[in-house]
Parts: sequence; C-alpha cells; structure tokens
Amino acid sequence: MRVLGIETSCDETGVAVYDTDRGLLAHALYSQIALHAEYGGVVPELASRDHVRKLLPLVRQALAEAGLGTADLDGVAYTAGPGLVGALMVGAATGRALAWALDLPAVGVHHMEGHLLAPLLEDPGLAPPFVALLVSGGHTQLVEVAAIGDYRLLGETLDDAAGEAFDKTAKLMGLPYPGGPELARLAESGRPGVFRFSRPMTDRPGLDFSFSGLKTQVMLAWKASDKTPETRADIARGFEDAVVETLAIKCDRALQQTDARTLVVAGGVGANIRLRARLQGLAEKRGGRVCFPRPEFCTDNGAMIAFAGALRLQAGQGEGAIVTVQPRWDMASLPHL
Ligand code: KG4
Ligand code: ZN
Repeated sequence: MRVLGIETSCDETGVAVYDTDRGLLAHALYSQIALHAEYGGVVPELASRDHVRKLLPLVRQALAEAGLGTADLDGVAYTAGPGLVGALMVGAATGRALAWALDLPAVGVHHMEGHLLAPLLEDPGLAPPFVALLVSGGHTQLVEVAAIGDYRLLGETLDDAAGEAFDKTAKLMGLPYPGGPELARLAESGRPGVFRFSRPMTDRPGLDFSFSGLKTQVMLAWKASDKTPETRADIARGFEDAVVETLAIKCDRALQQTDARTLVVAGGVGANIRLRARLQGLAEKRGGRVCFPRPEFCTDNGAMIAFAGALRLQAGQGEGAIVTVQPRWDMASLPHL
C-alpha cells in the first residue's frame, strides 16, 4: 500500500510517500524558520498561509522523487492534531480533497503518534512493548506502548515542554530563533559544572516534569553574569545538562516501573546529541536498548505521518469526507490497531 503523508501542524510543511512493502519512497520538507525568525516565534496566521503556498508543490516534488503519479497512490494520511488549528486545516483540507478526487481512503493522524512511531520507520525489528519518551516543542511525555495504538500516559510536563524550555532559554540569552538547536550547539563549547541548575521534580516519586523554573534559574544566572560568550556557553551547558539529566532520571524510572527493556525517543529534542548519548548509556547499563529516529525524522516531517497513516489505513481505519481537525487531542483516546 502506497500512502501519501502530509504534515502541517506547525511551522514545517512535510510530504512523504511510504510504501508498506518497499518502505519510504520519498520525502520533502519545507521549513518556515526564515519566515518566523523576525518575530522570534511562530506566527500562526503566517504559518497557515505559507502551508497553502508550499503544500501542493511539495506533493508534486515527493511524487516525482518517488517516480509515481497520483494514480499510483492507495491512500492519504494527514496530521489532524494536535497543533495550530489554521495550519492543521490546510493539510487536512488538502489531504481530504486529494483523497476525494482520487477516490482513495484517507486518515487523520495524531501528530504525537507520528513522532512516536518514527523510530519504526527504519527499524523493522523494533516492536512494542516499549516506553516512549516524546520530547518536542509542545509535548514532554512518557508513554507506555503496549501495542501500536495502545498508549498509556505515564507522566508529562506540568508547564513548559522540554523543547519550549530550550527555545525560551535560548531567547532570554539572546540566541536567534529557533533557539533549541542554537543553544545545543553553544553548549558544546561550554564547560560542564561551571553553572549547576536543579533537576526539577527528581527529588520526589513520579514521572511528571516541570521545566519552567529551570528557565527562571537560567534567567537569574544570565542577568547576574558578565555576559561574555564563554559564560553564555557555560550557562547553556549547565542548562542542557540539567534537562538531559532530568529526562534520563525519569526514563530510568519509567523503564523500571513498566519492566520494559526498550526505550524509544522521538520529537525534536530527540535530535539533541547529549540526550542521545546519555540515554544510550542508560540503556546499556540496564541491558536494554534505546532507539531514535535519524535526527531529520526527530523534528516534524511528512515521513512519520505517511508511516503512521499507512498502519492505520492498512487496519481499515479512516474517516468520511468531512474535514475535521483536533488542535487538542489525547493520544490515549486513539483506536487500537
Ligand atoms: O517535534 P518538533 O520538530 O516540533 C514539535 O512538534 O514541537 O520539535 C521542535 C522542538 C523545538 O522546541 C526545538 O527547539 C527542539 O525541538 N530541538 C532541539 C534540538 N533540535 C530541535 N532541542 C534541543 N537540542 C536540539 N538539537
Ligand atoms: Zn512535532
């Protein structure tokens, strides 16, 4: 089954073609970073309009790359939530219209399920049960995955998401948007231990997170500092170490609590080199394994939506012709496969 996947939930337009027999055939991505940079964050209305401009050319590009025409497709999958409502509507309306015109089944995919299943895209041996750490700009969740579609939330952030904390912290230290990857790059030249920030909520039982206080700690340290490039790098390193260590402590607990041997990491922050190394070490120590998508499939992309959608369409799932999106959507409410 060949499925066209469309992702437009935030500031990336992603399109891909996934074949359930042959794997990923093509993927194309357009990032709106330059568009939003001058505002220091995503402007929802500008995001929607840019998805309108870029989506169909990307569909053509992905099909050309796959060497396919629309007649070769067997289904369409698009992100139906969570995300920015206007941005979601562009992908949903386009996906539905294509499916209607081509007389194909179509399915609305949960963006976080897309992230969660991304590691399976290139690792066919990977299968539930496992624990997933979802760390993106909007979410920080630990999820117990008993089977594909069977998700139990173990813990989540009570305030900022991990990626959001990276972005806000970068911004307050004057780094350009989008701050997360910039801050991570800067941290590479920072010295460990010069600034030590707390590991929030690790001193009590449970699997929830809180990152907003950490951002305030960094703000106070930054304001009181000499603001040299070296100090900025040292603070970035202290912040990154605090986030990475906090995530690692909770992952360790989640694996222990569920008796799982496999940890799956997905979402934009999963591209963080130090987090990957730390969780790799953790998995080795526990005698289990940790799986990450390649960095470009950690951040938003069409491939994960095509893949998740293909699994659901193969299972006979899909909705009627009405275009609906869910800006807020609980992953535990998804139907099992
Ligand atoms: O999954 P994603 O592309 O979009 C959402 O669904 O939110 O995640 C984007 C988030 C941003 O907050 C970005 O700063 C963060 O992932 N991010 C990183 C890195 N690369 C992206 N955070 C830390 N280190 C990175 N290397
Ligand atoms: Zn995402």
